[in-house]
Formats: sequence, C-alpha cells, structure tokens
Amino acid sequence: MALSGGRPAPTHVIAHLSDPHLLGTPGGRLAGRIDTADQLRRALARVEASGEAIDALVISGDLTDSGEPAAYELLLDIVRPVVDRLGCALVLTGGNHDERGALARVLFGVEDDAPQDRVTTVRGLRIVTLDSAVPGYHHGGFSDDQYAWLAEELATPAQHGTVLVIHHAPITYRSPVMQLLDFDDVDRLRAAVAGTDVRAVLSGHLHVTSFGQLGHVPVIVAGGVSYVDDVGAPRLLLMGVDGPQSWNLVEVHTDEVVATVVPVDQHETWPALSEAVVDFMATVPPQDQREVFSRKRS
Ligand SMILES: [Fe+2]
Ligand SMILES: [Fe+2]
Repeated sequence: MALSGGRPAPTHVIAHLSDPHLLGTPGGRLAGRIDTADQLRRALARVEASGEAIDALVISGDLTDSGEPAAYELLLDIVRPVVDRLGCALVLTGGNHDERGALARVLFGVEDDAPQDRVTTVRGLRIVTLDSAVPGYHHGGFSDDQYAWLAEELATPAQHGTVLVIHHAPITYRSPVMQLLDFDDVDRLRAAVAGTDVRAVLSGHLHVTSFGQLGHVPVIVAGGVSYVDDVGAPRLLLMGVDGPQSWNLVEVHTDEVVATVVPVDQHETWPALSEAVVDFMATVPPQDQREVFSRKRS
C-alpha cells in the first residue's frame, strides 16, 4: 500500500522551460559568460531525471539569442532526442530575440514571415502557442488577425480546457525598464480570454520566476534556463546573473493548475523521509495514514 495523501494524480504534466537564448556560433557564450547550449542540456537532464510522465515539453520563446538558422538547428539537435525518450509533445514558440523567417523554416518547415501560432492537443488538453514577437521590436503584442484567430479557436472548448503559451508575460513586472518591453495590450488580451476555457498562461521573457493573473486566469512565468534577472538588485537596474536558472513543472488537475519551480543546478540531497518510515507507512491503512504520519510526537 503506497504512502499517499489521497489526491488524484494530475491529468496532464507539462515541463515548461523558457528563454534558452541559443547561439548560432559553436562554443559561443552569451554575454561572454553563459554556455546556453549547456544550460539547456542540463535543464532537460533534470526534466528527464524527475521521472515525471511529461505530456508536453513547452519552451516559451527566446529560443535563440539572435535568430540564426544554426541556432534553431542546434535547438532541434538538443531537444528532439529528449522528446523522443519522454514520448511527449514538443511545443515551441518564438520571442523577441527570435527571427520568424528562420524559426518557421527550421522548426516548422515552412517559408513564412507571419506569426507562428499553433495548436497542440494532448489527450484533450489544448495548448495554444501565440507568437507575441513584434517584428523589429523587443516589446510584444498580437495583430488583429491573431486576435481573430484566437477567438475562432477558443469558440469551441476543449475537453480539459486550454493553456496559452505567450512569450511576453501579460503581467505587470517590477522593472520599469522591462515594462517598456512588455505585452502591449493586456486589456485586449484579458477580454479575449474572458469567458473561454483558458486555464493558464505560460510565459517567459522576464528571466525570473513570477506569477500574476490575466483576469481570473493565472499567468505562470518560467525563469530563464540561460540566465536570470537579479531580483535582489534595485528595480531601476537590470542585472543578469548566472543562476539560479530554473524551469516549471506544471501539473494540470481537473480543478486547478499547479506550478512548481525546479532549479537547473542539482544541489546536494539527503533522504528527508527514510526508507524505514516509507516501509512502515505502507503497512498503515489509507484511512489511518494522516493520523499516524501527521501527528506531532514529543
Ligand atoms: Fe529572453
Ligand atoms: Fe524576451
């Protein structure tokens, strides 16, 4: 008999990574410091080591730092074997550091400069990627055509609802500088998802783990896997830091969406729950487990 709190398992599990900022030059380092390919490989190793039954690997933009075709090819080289081993869907969207033409050609096999919006449905959970990059700029937004496409798509609910993936997080971030580069019309986006089956928005761009809301919809921002904005610095500064990079384990339940931050760096661990306790608890009937396990002992 397993040790269990009795809650049902999530219906879907998503590994949400963001902002790998891959470079097109082999051996190159971002800002002269970060081996972004190595960072992504290490993050994905943690995804696989988690042992979770991942339904979808989502990477929410700034896939590359400068949009070189070689950087997208590197992304596929790194990600495809992992996706094959996990047997999960691969969900990719661009960001302000990406270039649509190269992204569309290498990742999706199409010659197209239009926004690369896609729908991926995994066992009834609809994951919609919306390309929030504005060509020639670093802030984000959607065209009228994208809003129309989204409204048409969301007009029909999905069995387990919808998760939107948008690079530019539609929340108010603390940094005034980053606010110049944020999503340009949050009011319109909030109206677009109101009354639909959208259950969460997964975003990046901020290079920090953050949470907010779009109306009643939670917005979950994954910290970058490449580098992080130092939240300990005064808000008028924008200071990069080589750590603590992370990704989010997003668990979709029938009645809630839960995100847990997973650091890319593996620190030293120890068994907080001994095998002897686990073995003993396995002998306790489920209805008695809370009383036996939760009661404080003097
Ligand atoms: Fe980024
Ligand atoms: Fe970005």
